[in-house]
Amino acid sequence: MPVGKPKIEIDVAHSYDSIVVLDHIKFDVYENEFLCILGPSGCGKTTMANLIAGLLKPSVGTVKLNGELVNPQKHNISYVFQARSCLPWRTVKDNVKIALEIKGISGPVAEEKIANVLQIVGLQEFADYYPNQISGGMKQRVAIARAFCVEGDLLILDEPFGSLDAQTRYVMQMEVLKICEKMKRTVIFITNNIEESVFLADRLIVLSSVPARIIKEINVNFSKPRNVTHPDFLQLRTSISNLSEIAQDAVGGSR
Ligand SMILES: Nc1ncnc2c1ncn2[C@@H]1O[C@H](COP(=O)(O)OP(=O)(O)OP(=O)(O)O)[C@@H](O)[C@H]1O
Ligand SMILES: [Mg+2]
Repeated sequence: MPVGKPKIEIDVAHSYDSIVVLDHIKFDVYENEFLCILGPSGCGKTTMANLIAGLLKPSVGTVKLNGELVNPQKHNISYVFQARSCLPWRTVKDNVKIALEIKGISGPVAEEKIANVLQIVGLQEFADYYPNQISGGMKQRVAIARAFCVEGDLLILDEPFGSLDAQTRYVMQMEVLKICEKMKRTVIFITNNIEESVFLADRLIVLSSVPARIIKEINVNFSKPRNVTHPDFLQLRTSISNLSEIAQDAVGGSR
C-alpha cells in the first residue's frame, strides 16, 4: 500500500432508481500511481469512472481530489471513454488539439505539445489523416494522445482497448507504459481483462459482479515491462481468476 496523502479519495455507493449497482466502495489513489480497476462486464465500472470524473453524483458518499469534492469544471481530468471518441470531421492532429483548445492553449505551444505527443504514440506521419483513413488501434492512440496531451490531475481510461484484437491490444498496452514512463500521470485504468490488469497495474482493485464491491486489493510489485510468461506473473493471474466471484468473462486475455 503506498504511503502519504492520497490524491483521490473514493468512498461511494450508487443506485440507478432502486437498483444498487455499486455497493459501498472505498479506496484511495496516490500521485503518479497506475491503478487498475478490474471487474466483470456490467458490474458498474463505467458508473465508477463517471463518479470519479465528477460526471455523475454518487447516491451516497463522496469523491475527493486533492482534498476537495471532485469538480470537472475545476479539476483537470482526462477521460478516455469506453466508446471510441474521434471526431470524424477533424484530422488526427486536430482531434488531439481539442484537449488544448478546451484549456485555451493555442499557437506554437500547442503545436509543440501536439507534435511531441503524436511522436510518442507513433502517429506523427498520420497527423493530417482523417479517422476513416486510420485503423481502430490508431484511433485509440489518438484518444490516448489527446488524454496525455494536457497535464492533468487525473487520467481515467475506461476499457480503452476492449475492442482491439489481441496483438494490437498488446502494442497499445506497451505504448501506455512507455508514455507513463515519459510523462508521469496519475492513472485509473478500467478493464475486465485479468492479464491486462496484471500487466499494467501498480495496484489492482478487483470488483465483484453487480452490485459491485471490492473483493481484493493487490499491490503488483513486479518491475515493468512485465513478462506475461514469468511464473510469478502467471501465478498472480491464476490466483485472481480463482477468486470465486470473478465472472468467467473477466478471465479473458490470452495472447
Ligand atoms: N444511466 C443508467 N440508468 C440506469 N441503469 C444504468 C445506467 N447506466 C448503467 N446502468 C446499469 O448499471 C449496471 C452497470 O453498468 P456499467 O456501464 O457501469 O457497467 P460496466 O462494468 O461498465 O459494464 P461493461 O463492462 O459492459 O462496460 C448495468 O446493469 C447497467 O445496465
Ligand atoms: Mg463499461
